Amino acid sequence: MNLFSRSATGAALATALAVTGVPAMAAPAAEAPVVLTLSTQAAGPTISRHLFGQFAEHLGTGIYGGVWVGPDSPIPNVRGIRKDVVAALKALRVPNVRWPGGCFADKYHWRDGIGPRGRRPVTLNPDWGGVEESNAFGSHEFLDFAQQIGADAYLSINVGSGTVAEAGGWLEYLTSPNGSTLARERVRNGARAPFKVAMLGIGNETWGCGGSMKPEEYAAELKKYATFVLNHHPAQQQAPNKMLRIASGPNQGDERFTDVVMSHWKDHIYSWGMEGLSLHSYTGIEKWPPSHPSQAFGVDEYAAVLRNTLDMDGYVRRHAAVMDRYDPERKVGLYVDEWGAWYAPLPGSNPAFLQQQNSQRDALIAALNLNIFMRHAERVRGANVAQMVNVLQAMILTSDRGIVLTPTYHAFRLYIPFQDAERLPLAFEAGDVVLGDVRLPRLDAVAARGRDGQVWVALVNLDPAQSLAVELAAEGGAVGAQGEVLAAPRFDGVNSFEQPQQVVPRPVAVRAEAGRVRLTLPPASLSVVALRR
Ligand code: AHR
Repeated sequence: MNLFSRSATGAALATALAVTGVPAMAAPAAEAPVVLTLSTQAAGPTISRHLFGQFAEHLGTGIYGGVWVGPDSPIPNVRGIRKDVVAALKALRVPNVRWPGGCFADKYHWRDGIGPRGRRPVTLNPDWGGVEESNAFGSHEFLDFAQQIGADAYLSINVGSGTVAEAGGWLEYLTSPNGSTLARERVRNGARAPFKVAMLGIGNETWGCGGSMKPEEYAAELKKYATFVLNHHPAQQQAPNKMLRIASGPNQGDERFTDVVMSHWKDHIYSWGMEGLSLHSYTGIEKWPPSHPSQAFGVDEYAAVLRNTLDMDGYVRRHAAVMDRYDPERKVGLYVDEWGAWYAPLPGSNPAFLQQQNSQRDALIAALNLNIFMRHAERVRGANVAQMVNVLQAMILTSDRGIVLTPTYHAFRLYIPFQDAERLPLAFEAGDVVLGDVRLPRLDAVAARGRDGQVWVALVNLDPAQSLAVELAAEGGAVGAQGEVLAAPRFDGVNSFEQPQQVVPRPVAVRAEAGRVRLTLPPASLSVVALRR
């Protein structure tokens, strides 16, 4: 089987790959460099920092054990929240965290999670293994956590099994500064100042676990929630600080859902509104249950999963086109508030806990999706990777002994300069790499001017076996560059508690010549560099 059709070197290496499933070593970049032409003058859209958001659901050990250990735990904590996890997430400059779900959100009743912890009811978590939910981590603990890591709060409210009055009361409890009974109850529970809630998700997957609604049925609910669930915080009454209302949106390619919700938005009477529509799309679920392994996989698995993740571009493009018909001024943003890789559960784990390893392939999935969102920054204003800790494509894996930072964590860290950056036009032609019956682009790249004034370029070499030489040709020239590269000994390389530093970013080697910058991208790697001009 000829896995590679790109070059003779590739074909030879393909034989090795067919046998071992992974490249023994990187083949040298033999061809002329791929030239990337970069315009530094033309101003593109702002890449919202909220594209780099996170999602933390009451699911498996995503919250309990992963974030919350309780104040009496031997694991170092601040008010019950793990110090090691907070330090790692602070370094990631997480812009917002979506909580408490997910499917969990439409079964969550906020009153269960306030007041003295010893007196909170123990409820059940039917979606995720039917396990007991202690409610120890409730609103105050979540908002404390968000503050500790410096992130905005994105609250997902219960439309499926709640009421408008319940959700309205939750927002009054959290955000009202005055002497209402609910505000006074919050003060009694330890929070004198009102909390800020930056984003409000109105239901989750309302076509599925959030209530199996038709889009018309959901649109009727949406109008009521968007009208009556109000943020009372005095500092959040005016743009740009007003709370964003994000409607539950389609699954993957369901454009009809988008069409119906947008048509209701367009025809609105009186004052309801929404600032966002959500889209959910996971990588790797061609059939249910997900069966791709998260570790120890071969090149066929590498190729199939990366091919699948690139479908995100088509979903975003098509939903954006529907939104354009109703909203040419782009008042409503598209928020991809659940995305990431969903693999087979780790052997021996509770399948309802969605535990998986995280490999170099996941770092590339993160980079490719972030690049897609940035390329559609005119419409895509937010995204939340699923999920933050211990669940699906996690940033962090935890145990009682400590934490492991995953390749996805490192990818997100490398992308920090793109938060609120201005996208710049970038042109290149790098061709494809063919792996069995899967064709992938060899190179994916995005450029932007960061808030630091520097020109940043993110480059992904998708070829699992060959390095790729590239040359950055920026308008006005460059005298050098510095940055980091995230590569692994193998494309399925992981970080584990035994070997936590297998996949970590390292300084990139560059060469500047005649105003251009040359670098070599290792196989299956992500590089992020700032040009010196
Ligand atoms: O992230 C896991 C689950 O995936 C979420 O709870 C749900 O919204 C989606 O189907």
